[in-house]
Amino acid sequence: MFKIQALVSVLFIVQCQPIQNIRFRTLQVPEAPSLLQIEGAAEKRERFEFTGKEFVIATDHPLASSAGLYAWKAGGNVVDAFVAASFVVSIVRPHSTGLLGGGFAVINLDQGKTKRAFDFRERAPIAGRKEAYVDNEGKPIPGKTVNGPFSAATPGMIPGLLLLQKRYGRLPLAKVLEPSIQIAKSGFAIYGDLARVIKSNWELMNPEMKEIFGKEGRPLLEGEPLVQIDLSTVLERLALLEEMEIREGQTAEKIAKFYVPYQEHIRLQDLKNYKVNESEPIVGYAFGKKIITMPPPSSAVHLLTIFQLLAELQNRKSLPTGEVGEIIRLTESMRVGYRDRAELGGDPKFTKIDVQSLLSQVYIKTEANAIERKIVSGAWTSTIGDLKTESYNTTHISVMDKDGNAVSSTQSINGSLGAKIVVPGTGLILNNTMDDFAVAPGFPNIYGLLGSNANAIEPGKTPLSSMSPMILLDDSGKSEIAIGAPGGSQIPTTILNTLYQYKTKGLSLYESASHPRYHHQYQPDILFVEPEAKVRFPLTELPFYQVQYVRHRAKVFAVAREKDELIGVSDPRGEGVPLGF
Ligand code: DON
Repeated sequence: MFKIQALVSVLFIVQCQPIQNIRFRTLQVPEAPSLLQIEGAAEKRERFEFTGKEFVIATDHPLASSAGLYAWKAGGNVVDAFVAASFVVSIVRPHSTGLLGGGFAVINLDQGKTKRAFDFRERAPIAGRKEAYVDNEGKPIPGKTVNGPFSAATPGMIPGLLLLQKRYGRLPLAKVLEPSIQIAKSGFAIYGDLARVIKSNWELMNPEMKEIFGKEGRPLLEGEPLVQIDLSTVLERLALLEEMEIREGQTAEKIAKFYVPYQEHIRLQDLKNYKVNESEPIVGYAFGKKIITMPPPSSAVHLLTIFQLLAELQNRKSLPTGEVGEIIRLTESMRVGYRDRAELGGDPKFTKIDVQSLLSQVYIKTEANAIERKIVSGAWTSTIGDLKTESYNTTHISVMDKDGNAVSSTQSINGSLGAKIVVPGTGLILNNTMDDFAVAPGFPNIYGLLGSNANAIEPGKTPLSSMSPMILLDDSGKSEIAIGAPGGSQIPTTILNTLYQYKTKGLSLYESASHPRYHHQYQPDILFVEPEAKVRFPLTELPFYQVQYVRHRAKVFAVAREKDELIGVSDPRGEGVPLGF
């Protein structure tokens, strides 16, 4: 058990010039043991951590990691492994991701010479206009962006994965698709998490979906096989016809036909003209490393701001020391990042996001000054709002080889089982990513996140995303850590918590992943803390924060290169497993 150590008092000493007329205060907090982990993590370590020499992949399902390994052993590279795992994870985690979803990927190949960012996220279809989602008073029509045909945006997953594989993979596509075709055909045993999601969403599913996920008119149960024959046919057609199949082939036609009675919300034209956005990744510096990650509409830029602000706050000696100071620094950095996200975040093709200024030293110092002034004066209080909770969904894959080639990719159909609609004859589940837009000002989405006009619905626009896949580099430019997470609004803070423990506190990658996390997302103004942290110190006694103890939704998947070893970790909060050799 954990030792609660003696109480220490923390005196706020102000040493810095810009702050005047402040009120000093003293806090009483116990010191905390440093190696606390979420419950049961130590016993699970063998399953959720893997050490290899050549190649390691961390995913959210053992079959997906096995598919990655299969592609690697067949002579593929990290991209083949990643694509093989992506197709499999979309079959074995249909509540998290799927081929009618989308995602982001950052790659670092050729021993650090090729660094690219791929945005294959869903886009609002031509028919997707904000007026369609609000009533006469401008209030969101309940559920329209969350369930049913209008909640889906034009999918980008298949064009994205195929483009990546074609451009950077080594194997024939058919080889890469082999594991997914086989698993869709022969089925796999439904596990607890999936069974729960099928049961809780049963009433919302369309009849075609119930046929796949049910038996004799009831939801399939844990242990029963999930066989997806139509989906295996789509995969076989993809192996033959490649992306033509999703742009104008039978699969595309079936999607368009399904939408005829729904005002042609998604049309053949949307599928045919879908464009994967390939670009330079954005670059940041934190934890002593150069970091490459996704440009907007990913929130990764705000995560980089959070990293830099945290580093700046470490130098501010007027802030409390010890664990109290640590929590304050983390929380206040997160608050700023999520505020910027809410106010500025959106598709850069429709709104200007000044990445350089958000990462500039001037900006970081100005924000750090404001935080210091606020905390030291103690002249502020917290206001509580609502947070809607969602179950686990979305997924992340991290892959790396011994030469530092890596892929970090987060993929999603947004909410659990997306729109809860299977397109007849395809086995494919529609996403509900229209909910990632800010439907109306002041109305939070399913993750409790607010947005501004920058993220309003417009035809062809990409919704703002929390998905922030990233790769930290060594001095030669090769990958050192590939990391990312699913978990809606908790994605950025999960990456922050993990890297903070790993790089700043010196815990192992596994201990960092399983360390209790802190999360603040600006609104609601609550510090969310994982339950195990409760035993360490009475956070509720901190005057600054409204605290809620809850299990984190997000799960981290990371691979790190340490000397001549590759360490893979799949979050012990989930069902995944890292594999390699
Ligand atoms: O892109 C986004 O921000 C969301 N669609 C991600 C959803 C997610 O991670 C859900 N996990 N609980």
